Amino acid sequence: MRLDGRIAIVTGASSGIGRGIAIELARDGANVAVVDLEERPKQGKHYDTDIQSTTVEEIEKLGCESMFYKVDISDEDAVKDMYKQISRDFGCIDIVVNNAGILVPKNMDDISVDEFEKVVSVNLTGTFMVTKYALPYVKKSKFGRIIHISSQQAFGGGGGPSYTATKAALVNMTKDTAVEVASNNVTVNVICPGYIETPLQDYHTQETIAEAKRRTPLPRFGTPKDIGRSAVFLASDDAEWITGTTLIVDGGWLAPV
Ligand SMILES: NC(=O)c1ccc[n+]([C@@H]2O[C@H](COP(=O)([O-])OP(=O)(O)OC[C@H]3O[C@@H](n4cnc5c(N)ncnc54)[C@H](O)[C@@H]3O)[C@@H](O)[C@H]2O)c1
Repeated sequence: MRLDGRIAIVTGASSGIGRGIAIELARDGANVAVVDLEERPKQGKHYDTDIQSTTVEEIEKLGCESMFYKVDISDEDAVKDMYKQISRDFGCIDIVVNNAGILVPKNMDDISVDEFEKVVSVNLTGTFMVTKYALPYVKKSKFGRIIHISSQQAFGGGGGPSYTATKAALVNMTKDTAVEVASNNVTVNVICPGYIETPLQDYHTQETIAEAKRRTPLPRFGTPKDIGRSAVFLASDDAEWITGTTLIVDGGWLAPV
């Protein structure tokens, strides 16, 4: 297995893409700290409608260790405490996946300043804080890996002003941190998913889902497992000389752009 014995943190890992990443990291042998606001998975309107088991339960079925940490990644003190607790419980930290994110499906015209700032506080400031306080740990690891989850929306409009701005910012933050920590043999990369079947898509209507299907060249939407396998690759030794890179995993959505 590619990640045998490594210790990973995945934020937003109770539901959707984060859950898929946490499970795939464990399938390749990693022990995983599951970080989220809630331990129970979200039941979506269109996807994961009857999901029941927790991510920790799924990881334990794979024979790996896992614990849940209730943390709001936009709270600096909570993030600092999280690292103290996880390093006590697991001993070290090799892989940090910044997946937690939110979307307010509103336009410039109708989004409030509070809503805009809330998205920034989770998607950008939260990712920044989880990365900043990870550095002492991943620098000590022989396999230090930081992986951000951005979006295809980083490269164009359509996701609302707050979401697209934060996701574009993550692409550049990836490059900056990659340069900063390269001499410590830590890699920093970002995955930009396309349309993935998760509860985040609850705001869609049947019409907008059909439109997204038409825009996706491959004949299906993505799943959390698709993003999970990409994260396993970036976390593995196969990717040890890849840093500062953007991996687009979108079924071809951006190919015509
Ligand atoms: N679903 C997609 O099509 C898609 C596409 C591109 C990018 N993404 C990105 O992937 C990531 C995961 O999206 P998803 O579709 O799985 O969403 P989701 O809503 O299904 O799951 C997100 C998880 O993050 C957790 N979370 C939210 N705010 C948090 C906070 N402050 N602290 C800790 N945990 C928090 C939620 O509780 C939830 O479990 C997000 O960053 C999202 O922007 C999703």
